[in-house]
Amino acid sequence: MAQLWGGRFKGETDDLVYAFNASINFDKRLYRQDIEGSKAHVTMLGRQGVLSAEDTGSILAGLDSILNDIEAGSLEITSEYEDIHSFVEAVLTERIGDAGKRLHTGRSRNDQVALDMKLYIRDEIDQITVLLRELLETVLNMMKEHIDTYMPGFTHLQKAQPVTFAHHMGAYFEMFRRDIGRLTDCRKRLNECPLGSGALAGTTYPLDREYTAELLGFDIATRNSMDSVSDRDYLIEFLSDLSLIMMHLSRLSEEIIIWNSNEYGFVELDDAYSTGSSIMPQKKNPDIAELTRGKCGRVYGDLMTLLTVMKGIPLAYDKDIQEDKEAAFDAIDTVHGCVRLMNGMLATMKIDPGAMERSAVKGFTNATDVADYLVTRGVPFRDAHSYVGQIVLKCIERGCAIEDLSLDELREICPEFREDVYEAISLQACVERRRTKGAPGLDPMQDEIDEAEEYLKTFK
Ligand code: ARG
Repeated sequence: MAQLWGGRFKGETDDLVYAFNASINFDKRLYRQDIEGSKAHVTMLGRQGVLSAEDTGSILAGLDSILNDIEAGSLEITSEYEDIHSFVEAVLTERIGDAGKRLHTGRSRNDQVALDMKLYIRDEIDQITVLLRELLETVLNMMKEHIDTYMPGFTHLQKAQPVTFAHHMGAYFEMFRRDIGRLTDCRKRLNECPLGSGALAGTTYPLDREYTAELLGFDIATRNSMDSVSDRDYLIEFLSDLSLIMMHLSRLSEEIIIWNSNEYGFVELDDAYSTGSSIMPQKKNPDIAELTRGKCGRVYGDLMTLLTVMKGIPLAYDKDIQEDKEAAFDAIDTVHGCVRLMNGMLATMKIDPGAMERSAVKGFTNATDVADYLVTRGVPFRDAHSYVGQIVLKCIERGCAIEDLSLDELREICPEFREDVYEAISLQACVERRRTKGAPGLDPMQDEIDEAEEYLKTFK
């Protein structure tokens, strides 16, 4: 083991303590951000005259060589070091000699790790936004294709009123659009640079913090050094955003599982996105959707971990904060996998418009429209509601749909029915007459699709 401290110690660290304390096994994924941050720090130290031009040049070249070698696979990040910060500094010193030991001037691992995490999360926000945008494109394609695919809309998982598959998928478009909005907000708020805050109380060197902030693409340097080294609010915010993404993916997964069931048969998952059973030869299971639903709990758990870790931390940095990483990385990896797989699953899933339509016809989804028809004939809505209730009862007894009853049978219950009722309560008419903004009728749905298309263009 190799560590950055030891001067004031007489004894060796216990092996178990060393292993318990070390973070290299998980913080090694921060290597790029760590080197990027160090380069900005050193560039600024050189500009401020804290480091000579020669040392600055050789540190920068050394850091570049380390980055290249890690990316090329010729330099392995080993657990011989406590964390990624020690590793980079040690390799640097090995490569360029004493100048490497000047890298940490005016810096602490506390502001260093605060910076690394912010840089990492910022990159992740950008990447997850791209994945979500791709998912939205797939959802939008489904909306365009199924603008007249009628299906039952549900409340309480009971058939309620007819909608279209485009309309149903449009709801998910809105959820994932909000997810992108939340990530964008989170990025804005986190974009303040903690570098130069030192261990907690700033530093005596004449650092130019606004300059490093600018070099690293931050809007501003943070305003309070104690807050800077111990703030993980943005991580909690980010994990809340990821939790909501997972919640949306989980809800969609649940629907896919239902639609793909033998009883519904609204969709059929592609072979590439289904799995079989080791014993039941007929099975084709929606494991990917189920796992996505399950992994939602895992990301909620990661969020809960962070909230709990942070709740009792006195200012400023305490080692508890190191526990932020595994939870954050786990949530990030989970979301990456789930968004990608959802995209593939949706893009390859077969839709059965006939099955959806048959289900909508069977389930009295036009009952409200029958009542609305009577209202156009002057019947008060409350009375119409009761007439249609009696009609539905009759249909249930007979095992038929409302439109299967003859005009005479309908008029026995309410004399206001006329021949035009059949046209008025057809599936198509029921959807078509829903023309309020956001409703499934053709015109508002086309507006919704056009707007979604415009929204997606803002990313290109
Ligand atoms: N591995 C630490 C973390 O992730 C880095 C900061 C260590 N600071 C310290 N004072 N020991 O939080």
